[in-house]
Amino acid sequence: MQLPEYIINKANKKMEDEKVEGFVLGNGNPEADIMIVGEAPGEKEAVVGVPFIGRAGDELDKQFAYLGIKREDVYITSVVRSRPYKWVDTTKKGSGGRRKANRKPNQREIAAHAPILDYQINEISPRLIIALGGVALERLAGKQYKISEVLGELIEGPVYQWENNEYVLSEKQYAVFPLYHPAAVFYNPVIKKDIYHSLDKLKEYLNL
Ligand code: URA
Repeated sequence: MQLPEYIINKANKKMEDEKVEGFVLGNGNPEADIMIVGEAPGEKEAVVGVPFIGRAGDELDKQFAYLGIKREDVYITSVVRSRPYKWVDTTKKGSGGRRKANRKPNQREIAAHAPILDYQINEISPRLIIALGGVALERLAGKQYKISEVLGELIEGPVYQWENNEYVLSEKQYAVFPLYHPAAVFYNPVIKKDIYHSLDKLKEYLNL
């Protein structure tokens, strides 16, 4: 999907002072009924420019296989397009004593890239938006939603869009389905049961 250059330029200009790298626009079928919204690219995605091709992507592919859907059936995008990083100390040889680690995007970064996600949502007009993780859920449905509380429960209503320097609710109604971010299982393996339970609910909703 092409985006007007002025939207990308403006978004990236607002990002200039942030510690981010790379740019990933999105990937998949722009005519899809289902849109998947992640958080932000990781290291590999930022280099290659394709979403979910690293470790989290392998986990996402497993979940797709469980659901019986293919990447070509959906459009995959994210809240922030560039990889937010922080410097951390390391003793690894040849590293110079530090390396870049992923971090969660901050609110400035989320707002800077909000018009890109808004544009894609408006263009694709998906029947279902799958929010992968708390950052995507709160960006779309609002901060009153906590992912652990609404996991696997369909949220129907407007979504937040960035207009004239603030978030406003869309006129159009959407269906947002919250799932844990696929990387969450690496940090907290006990949630695997909850993840598959929420995937079962998604299967039911999609009639798969
Ligand atoms: N996490 C995301 O949200 N998107 C990616 O592309 C990779 C990891």
